[in-house]
Amino acid sequence: MTGLLQDREVAARVLDHIAQGKTDLGGDVWREPVANYRSEARLEAEIGTVLRRYPVPFCPSAALPDPGCYVAREAAGVPILAVRGRDGIVRAFRNACRHRGMQVAAGSGCTNAFVCRYHGWAYRLDGGLGHIPHEEGFPGLDKAEHGLVPVTAVERAGLVFVTQDGSDHQEVLDDLPPVIGAGQRVFATSEREVPANWKISAEGFLEGYHILPTHRETFFPYGFDNLNVIEAFGRNSRVTFPFRRIEKLAAVPPAERRVDGMLTYVYHLFPNVMIAMLSRHTQMVVLEPLDAGRTRFVTYAMAEAPPDGGPLPEEVTRDTDFVERSGGAEDREVTCAIQRAIGSGANMHFTFGRFEGAIVHFHRMLDAALDGG
Ligand code: FES
Repeated sequence: MTGLLQDREVAARVLDHIAQGKTDLGGDVWREPVANYRSEARLEAEIGTVLRRYPVPFCPSAALPDPGCYVAREAAGVPILAVRGRDGIVRAFRNACRHRGMQVAAGSGCTNAFVCRYHGWAYRLDGGLGHIPHEEGFPGLDKAEHGLVPVTAVERAGLVFVTQDGSDHQEVLDDLPPVIGAGQRVFATSEREVPANWKISAEGFLEGYHILPTHRETFFPYGFDNLNVIEAFGRNSRVTFPFRRIEKLAAVPPAERRVDGMLTYVYHLFPNVMIAMLSRHTQMVVLEPLDAGRTRFVTYAMAEAPPDGGPLPEEVTRDTDFVERSGGAEDREVTCAIQRAIGSGANMHFTFGRFEGAIVHFHRMLDAALDGG
């Protein structure tokens, strides 16, 4: 079992915090050396030992709704292609043609086959090499030995997890809660390069201690400052950000409380993926390190698909705009400012206190993973 609280248990804890003027507290203070955010050698270890060797969420299952649907992007610096096969199974491959290495797919879409646009070698959805134009030019080449090179792909909890190097650590997928429910539709995908280390970027999602000072006019009027429920499950965590309207539930018997629209859950799926369950939509943000001081944010925005297949309600796009353009922009501004001062010599370490327990958990788990634990 994951050990995560049920919605009503979260609501009860939030109401208790509101009544008592408190929040969840972690056990201890963590000091993370600033050198760990600046060192390319450290980043190389994080990529080689963790990002490529653990099952990492690659895309939501909803991005591959039908056979032939695919997503191609770089993950931990390697072009990866995930595709749903005709048998419904999601597979993933190194996105490099077996002739001379060109990527066989870009972006996302739906197809019957992947045809390399350099010389036209064609691959089936299962990665097998199906056709070589003018095959007589390659005497003795065994097509069966020249399929796309697979990597480990597992579909779990509404997500596609990819393990690039080897297939160790699959046990971290055991007992995951159903993070992204069925019936979701991806309605927008975007990429944005942010000039900051990927861990500084991650930390911005994982505490509510900054809500009033950073989001005074945006998130704070709807939420609380420094009032969160913080849970760890495996190497992952979940941080709950309640809306003020949850206070109404204090008058409702616990068994009758409905929390829809009253809580935002932010899941941190180790090591570099955030999933925010917002009022009317869900955002999956993958933090792809480009170098020690730059991160690509890959964002998938999802919402429950209307039953008639029609357009999404206007409130969904309003919800997205609000998060992206107001609070999200404020978070990125802070993240970039921290990065600008990271070489200033002001700090030998950053200090994470007892309100920042999800970040402490992240660093503890990352250190353990780097140590081979
Ligand atoms: Fe793909 Fe030549 S590199 S067909």
